[in-house]
Amino acid sequence: MILVAGSANLDFVVRAPHIPAPGETVLGHDFQTVPGGKGANQAVACARAGGADTHMLLALGHDAYAVPLESSLKAAGVHLHARRVIDRATGTAFICVSDDAENAITVAPGANYALSPADLPPLNGFTHLLMQLEIPLACVLAYAKAARAQGITVVLNAAPACALPAELLALLDVLIVNEGELAVVADAAGSIAQCLARIAVPCVVVTLGHHGCCVRSEGSLSYQPAFDVTPIDTTGAGDTFCGVLVAALSQGQPLQTAMQRGSAAAALACTRLGAQTSIPNQAEVLSFLSAQPPATDARLTELKQFCGLESI
Ligand code: RIB
Repeated sequence: MILVAGSANLDFVVRAPHIPAPGETVLGHDFQTVPGGKGANQAVACARAGGADTHMLLALGHDAYAVPLESSLKAAGVHLHARRVIDRATGTAFICVSDDAENAITVAPGANYALSPADLPPLNGFTHLLMQLEIPLACVLAYAKAARAQGITVVLNAAPACALPAELLALLDVLIVNEGELAVVADAAGSIAQCLARIAVPCVVVTLGHHGCCVRSEGSLSYQPAFDVTPIDTTGAGDTFCGVLVAALSQGQPLQTAMQRGSAAAALACTRLGAQTSIPNQAEVLSFLSAQPPATDARLTELKQFCGLESI
């Protein structure tokens, strides 16, 4: 059973020909609001795409923005431990999605930043704690400490990127980062190999967009090339990967299977609009996976070379 402790945001999404440069105004196309927030997206991914029994600790304002967020989580089967905050608005995110599927996101954390270390529910029965960095770092640290003390596997997706105290890194079992976050956490500008070597967490997963992902676990390396799809909107794809990876690990699947399932779910999420609206269900993930040819040696070699990890 998984506890996700993290953010929930209502995403205000506009599609546009391109993401505006500083000072530029761009005429966009359609606008919509979509349930989002890295924490809530990952909770929905754990439950809907990963088929895991999932709970979520979150904070919401007393406002209309909270309504679709609660509905989306409940519809995915996530059990809520929701703190209601009277003096802050529900978290929001302002997202521009370009016609070539890139995005730029600005988050107004609102109620998410009212979570406190005291809000953690009893941890009996949980096997995995999954967190991100859209809630106060003090909460992430306190929750990790409490989970570690009870033998729960602690997983952190270090997004948005932030330098992490050594005390927190020492409490993690699994760290999930993208290339930019890896450089910030490692505090280095070298290759992926060099950055990975600087992080003292037993299992570090690095997502690499259309290249795929790689994992360093207990000194050995695994790779998963990305599945080929035509992306429409990559918002929430990383969250989908994290949720499905942790769901698979919580179900006792090997790391390589967890990477495959996470990658398949993320690929499907890229073909649909929005964050939680794009997360597939588990049957779709497994059916997509079973239709994929095995990764070719050429794709694996390309991924290894991109990582620069052959020499580790
Ligand atoms: O990772 C995507 C998410 O980042 C969006 O849903 C947005 O709310 C921000 O948290």
